[in-house]
Amino acid sequence: MRHLIALLFPLALHAQHGLVPAPVEAVTGTDRCSLHCPWVLDAPGADTATVRIVEQELRTLLPRGGMACLLPLRITLERTSPDTLLPAEWYGLTVGANHIRVHAPTDAGLFRGTRTLVQLLEQHAPTGSIPFMRITDHPRFPWRGMHLDVVRHFWPVDFVKKYIDLLARYKMNSFHWHLTDDQGWRIEIKARPKLTEVGAWRKGSQVGPYSRLEYDSIPYGGFYTQDEIREVVAYAKARHINVVPEIEMPGHAMAALASYPHLGCTGGPYEVQRGWGVFDDVFCAGNDSVVQFLADVIAEVVELFPGPYIHIGGDECPKERWKTCAKCQQRMQDEGLSDEHELQSWLIQHIEKIIVLGYGRQIIGWDEIMEGGLAPTAAVMSWRGTEGGIAAARSGHDAVMSPGSHCYFDHYQGDPAQEPLAFGGHTPLQKVYAYEPIPAELEPDRHHHILGAQGNVWTEYILTTDHVEYMAVPRMLALAEVLWTPKEKRDEADFIRRLEDEFAQLDRLEVNASRSLYQVSVTPQQGDVPGRIDVHFRTGRTGMPMRYDHITEVLYPDAPDPRNDLEVRHGDVVDGALAIDRSCRIEAWAEGGPDGPMSRSRQAFRFNKATARPITLSVQPNERYNAGGAFTLVDGITAQVRRVNTEWLGWKEDVAITIDLGRVQDIAHIGIGALSEPHAWIHPPEHVTIMHSLDGANFLPFAAIERPKNAKGRTSYAGDRRVTARYVRLKVKGAGTIPEGFPGAGNPAWLFLDEVEVR
Ligand code: ACM
Ligand code: ZN
Repeated sequence: MRHLIALLFPLALHAQHGLVPAPVEAVTGTDRCSLHCPWVLDAPGADTATVRIVEQELRTLLPRGGMACLLPLRITLERTSPDTLLPAEWYGLTVGANHIRVHAPTDAGLFRGTRTLVQLLEQHAPTGSIPFMRITDHPRFPWRGMHLDVVRHFWPVDFVKKYIDLLARYKMNSFHWHLTDDQGWRIEIKARPKLTEVGAWRKGSQVGPYSRLEYDSIPYGGFYTQDEIREVVAYAKARHINVVPEIEMPGHAMAALASYPHLGCTGGPYEVQRGWGVFDDVFCAGNDSVVQFLADVIAEVVELFPGPYIHIGGDECPKERWKTCAKCQQRMQDEGLSDEHELQSWLIQHIEKIIVLGYGRQIIGWDEIMEGGLAPTAAVMSWRGTEGGIAAARSGHDAVMSPGSHCYFDHYQGDPAQEPLAFGGHTPLQKVYAYEPIPAELEPDRHHHILGAQGNVWTEYILTTDHVEYMAVPRMLALAEVLWTPKEKRDEADFIRRLEDEFAQLDRLEVNASRSLYQVSVTPQQGDVPGRIDVHFRTGRTGMPMRYDHITEVLYPDAPDPRNDLEVRHGDVVDGALAIDRSCRIEAWAEGGPDGPMSRSRQAFRFNKATARPITLSVQPNERYNAGGAFTLVDGITAQVRRVNTEWLGWKEDVAITIDLGRVQDIAHIGIGALSEPHAWIHPPEHVTIMHSLDGANFLPFAAIERPKNAKGRTSYAGDRRVTARYVRLKVKGAGTIPEGFPGAGNPAWLFLDEVEVR
């Protein structure tokens, strides 16, 4: 084979060809095949769905030219004989004189090859020719998935198909359809009509940031008929994409309980929920009619979805009702179950038997299904980190990785100040691209249990299809490449270059792809002398010109060097940093991106006597909330409530903070900010003790501040008094264990702090 390539392509070049995901191997020659000639499609052995799809695409991409040609352009799709030595979904593609050939030993492989064909023609058809080339390609992982929540907000069939088109374009092969939850039941079940008559509709929706607990009263709902489900499943099948339906149990069941109240422990009444979150009312695990209900639902679901996996949810099921329900307690006694986790496991194993023995399918569930004992044949979807996936693989179960840190595309992808309201988190494109699905600590002989990964699009804060696209794209392209392309071929800079061309194709396909990648991030670092900050500028594409305005003005009368004028300096920055030592605003933007200048990133810096001064911590922050290290507390940036993952430091312990102000001086005010977001387990400190010192060894009391009542959002713990000192120390006592009545009760509370103020 090698020998033949050398003959065909005397000047072979290796290239990615602008393809996303990048192929395993692509070799390019110097000659070119004309794309002007009339074409013929020849498809020996190819499945008819693929032929129909490709024919349609060719008509758009290669309008039958009026060029007089000796020979037509022959495009061949060839199903070759089965070859078990080749990896699954393998395909080859060659371009020679008047001929483009895609070949594969499987229908799925052939379809993947045609996705490469389409991307190549999109790039080369406008130039009239395509270089000779040979591509051989196959995926790294067998499960390359995207999820879509159609409950929190509901999406029409046409949009679901468009979403599936995107999966197909990037050679993904699994669509996880989240069909039931507390806020709606979205799949018609003939044996239980109230699920959609009642359960598909809610009286209103939560609006705005979760912490505000605000709701509208606009009725909302919708569901898919079984005919529509069949239509989507067939559409996906034609693109060799498995549809994995998710029917949530035993938690996230309020829509089902509202439809059939006898399925809950208390008998209701229940309502389809307007708000997001986790609810204590769940399916009663002691009630035989629940088991019958789930069996009836599953009977229709397996009819509609022919794929190998049924997703049974299993996440976030509070055990409160079960603890006080006579039926649930009786079940535990009858079955010899020692706690409510085992009761959940009992229910899941019961359902597993129905699905596995009754229908020959497999179950997959969120990682909580491991609590109380994992069902013998279940696969695990690891979302609360990677531990669930690792534990599953170690015990011989398959796992799909979907950790919140890298695979939740409802998180922010850029600066929260420039992005639409999102769930939280900070998962920029580059972080997704850097994701490695095989956990480093997993033993090599278990790697084969990691089937792949999946990107999740939960839609609490997503109200339009445009916004779904914005959150999913381009992050799903990064994940598609992680899952398809060999690890050693992954190259972030090259991916971002290819993405630039791909944005043009996404525009043509009317996909609202996010360009947040081109936002300029404005990041402070400790300057080379105390009291000075180096501001660094960075955008997702290296070499992209960035400009900034540096605006100083009298923002605060107590700034160390108040100025009475307003000064605006304009600058070009590609490398290096801007040193600042007084309060100012910086606005920065990138130029020369595919769409011209991006929106401006704006950052205010407010200097006080502690800013950019040496700081020490008695305990380092938790690695999840330690983006900028201790310097974050003195970086001149007052953390915003929305920027939880970038501007706040988080601890589960108490902490003492000591700052050297550089010289003995008069001090009138010392304080620190803390965050209160109880729904996210973040509680304000119980108290803060502030001290001061001349020598850094002997500290005197300055102020002691107790937690204010009804602390909400950002709370300041500060004291005022006149002293002379060089050092300040703040001893912060966290809230400890989360009290009853709050989400996460019994777990350690998070302590979130930012910005020490000394004036
Ligand atoms: C989940 O995000 N609750 C699986
Ligand atoms: Zn019960």
